[in-house]
Amino acid sequence: MYVCLCKAVTDKAIKKAACEGACSMRCLNKMGVATQCGKCARDAKQILRATRAEL
Ligand code: FES
Repeated sequence: MYVCLCKAVTDKAIKKAACEGACSMRCLNKMGVATQCGKCARDAKQILRATRAEL
């Protein structure tokens, strides 16, 4: 499922990034997440937190 429509970033991509060490929105910003309209920021942050908590 796309989380960030502007930059076509999926939840899988965010989970993968989290598993590979992304620990903040700044890391996700490098993938383009929340760098355009910003509407995806809240959901992206939630996925990042949940995935990091599972590690
Ligand atoms: Fe992610 Fe617009 S949906 S920046």
